[in-house]
Amino acid sequence: MKTTRLAFIGAGNMARSLIGGLVADGWDPSTIAVSDPDTEQLTAIGSRFQVNTDTNNERVATNAEVVVLAVKPQAIRDVALGLANTVQERQPLLISIAAGIRATDMQRWLGGDCALVRCMPNTPALVQSGATALWGNETVSDEQRNLAETILRAVGLALWVDNEDLMDAVTALSGSGPAYFLLVMEALQEAGQMLGLPEETAKLLSLQTAFGASKMALESSEHTAVLRQRVTSPGGTTERALEVLENGGLRTLFKDALNAACNRSRQLADQFGAD
Ligand SMILES: NC(=O)c1ccc[n+]([C@@H]2O[C@H](COP(=O)([O-])OP(=O)(O)OC[C@H]3O[C@@H](n4cnc5c(N)ncnc54)[C@H](OP(=O)(O)O)[C@@H]3O)[C@@H](O)[C@H]2O)c1
Repeated sequence: MKTTRLAFIGAGNMARSLIGGLVADGWDPSTIAVSDPDTEQLTAIGSRFQVNTDTNNERVATNAEVVVLAVKPQAIRDVALGLANTVQERQPLLISIAAGIRATDMQRWLGGDCALVRCMPNTPALVQSGATALWGNETVSDEQRNLAETILRAVGLALWVDNEDLMDAVTALSGSGPAYFLLVMEALQEAGQMLGLPEETAKLLSLQTAFGASKMALESSEHTAVLRQRVTSPGGTTERALEVLENGGLRTLFKDALNAACNRSRQLADQFGAD
């Protein structure tokens, strides 16, 4: 059983998912503490996972080797300012899951240098199928990198990027990505209904096809283009549909969409880090 002492600041959706994944992976719940101003949230998380709870962030962080900042981006500044003394004194590993808050801003609020990992999970983390990218500053040791990876793996795939600037690209691809795929599934469902399929049938065929294609690609070592060509017989139905999508500019549309998301991510980071 894993026994590193963990503190979660914020007992919301992401903290619940991470703690659920860690406990299911065999992490000792008595080594996990959670703080949140909302006592109802604390009672719920405490009784569900048998973790320790407190309304005071500093008290929870004091004994921890790893402190996970799991509050909304707009709350990070105040939380970090409140933890600065504890962090400088105890030097835990900090893991921020807050979208778009840069390390330099976080370190300024936390009172100076500290071991800091930024990560960008996505909403399927809530069903333990997330995709998370992590980036760590120079102060993070190999052991701390492994710890951060273990924690994020509890809710799905966890991959490192070696440049913090890439976190904006990650936000554009996988952070916002679940919504793109949901839109594609919605569009497929509508098109199926247009062809006469009942709503529920069109929905289930669309969702299961997306799931199946993703599972097939994840389990194969082949490039997705090779898998796609394999299911595209010359002169067949798939080829006809793909021609329409390619000629309609699908690839350019996705490039433009990701560019827009990436630029917005940079703007938000500037805005949140302004103080
Ligand atoms: N949900 C996702 O899939 C996802 C994906 C990528 C990144 N993230 C990031 O994960 C972070 C958490 O998201 P979430 O969806 O879990 O949000 P959430 O459900 O709103 O959880 C945040 C929790 O933090 C609490 N909180 C607010 N101020 C606090 C303070 N000063 N000290 C301690 N706790 C405080 C909130 O309490 P109140 O409700 O009382 O305010 C709430 O319970 C965000 O920064 C988000 O960018 C989430």
